Amino acid sequence: MKKNVLVIVGTRPEAVKMAPVIKTLEKSPDRFELTVMASGQHRRMLDQVLNLFKIVPDLDLDIMVPDQTVTRVTCRVLEELEAYFRGRRPDAVLAQGDTTTVMAAAMACFYAGIPFGHVEAGLRTFDLTAPYPEEFNRRLAGLLAAWHFAPTRWAADNLLKEGTDPGKVYVTGNTVIDALFYTLKTTTPPGSPIPEGRRYVLMTCHRRENFGRPIREIFAAVKEFALAHPEISVWYPVHPNPHVRGPAGEILQGLDNVLLTDPLDYLHFVHAMNRAELLLSDSGGVQEEAPSLGKPVLVLREKTERPEAVAAGTCRLVGSDKNRIVAALEELLFDPRAYREMSEKSNPYGDGRAAAAIVEILSACL
Ligand code: UD1
Ligand code: UDP
Repeated sequence: MKKNVLVIVGTRPEAVKMAPVIKTLEKSPDRFELTVMASGQHRRMLDQVLNLFKIVPDLDLDIMVPDQTVTRVTCRVLEELEAYFRGRRPDAVLAQGDTTTVMAAAMACFYAGIPFGHVEAGLRTFDLTAPYPEEFNRRLAGLLAAWHFAPTRWAADNLLKEGTDPGKVYVTGNTVIDALFYTLKTTTPPGSPIPEGRRYVLMTCHRRENFGRPIREIFAAVKEFALAHPEISVWYPVHPNPHVRGPAGEILQGLDNVLLTDPLDYLHFVHAMNRAELLLSDSGGVQEEAPSLGKPVLVLREKTERPEAVAAGTCRLVGSDKNRIVAALEELLFDPRAYREMSEKSNPYGDGRAAAAIVEILSACL
């Protein structure tokens, strides 16, 4: 009997990480009746990824408004899903990660009595304030999930220590590696605004707990570094959140060797990572992807839910302290031994076959 599976995506990283799962589910139309729902928590950034992977959502809640609050996103997703579940009852709902869309989807499934599968389960910083609100979102999703697809053994152990039924926890690898390898294999490097041969750092920065003073300090560090080293560029595709865009424009606009652009679509970003010397980032996904490309990541956070990458030596936490960020950039860019030590480590997040593992497990469970 065919099983109805609803996949929900809301933001850019969810689309990147669920695209391989959606594509794998699509390959078994005799086994799965697939419905893709976009919450539209992100608009342009979500559509960029969906277009690249040729995914057309069957339903789009289109909830984004400029400068939205977490409460508003939660309420909209809960209400819309409650209405949807009144008319249809999927056999399983899948969502990935720790955004508000995912947390609200898990809650809506719980209220409706529909099993929820959590992709990228078990990540923890053990601090509800960092990242905020993501640590809360993933803990709540974990509390309510029927299946936990943990990317690593460490993540699975976190769930087991919380008392999660071991029979529901699976170590699958991270689907972001599937998306990365697929993109590298099926596309050619597009043109780049940075001239061939010029050294550059690729940057992302958007976390809510960095808004205000920390984000200004991060941007001040980039400015100081850029002014001191005109031979190196910093490329920053700026997240559209007004709390990011405002200070980025104010502090970084007008510097010759700082390139501020709109967010890149995934294809362009993957190739930009591949050509960069290193990443300066507070992104979750980038901490997992860049090491697969042999690129060190300086993580603009005090705590990470991805300690495997720090332990493996591919990522280093630098927080939001100006001096610490500048010192780390200079060390990696001007000390080849320090650079090699980070870039030659192997990636702990999987081999690009996570989506197949997840779909196989789901098939066996349904
Ligand atoms: C969200 C997630 C965060 C994730 C990030 C990935 C929550 C609370 N936060 O943060 O965990 O790491 O996405 O990028 O779930 N905007 C646009 N166009 C877009 C997307 C966003 O203009 O395509 C602007 C809008 O003004 C929007 C604002 O950014 O209101 C914030 O978007 P939101 O999804 O609430 O939070 P993010 O900071 O993007
Ligand atoms: N990314 C992208 N374009 C950009 C910046 C990032 O496609 O301009 C990709 C990146 O490769 C990763 C994902 O977006 O797969 C990370 O998303 P984001 O940083 O928005 O969220 P997080 O991972 O922190 O939740």
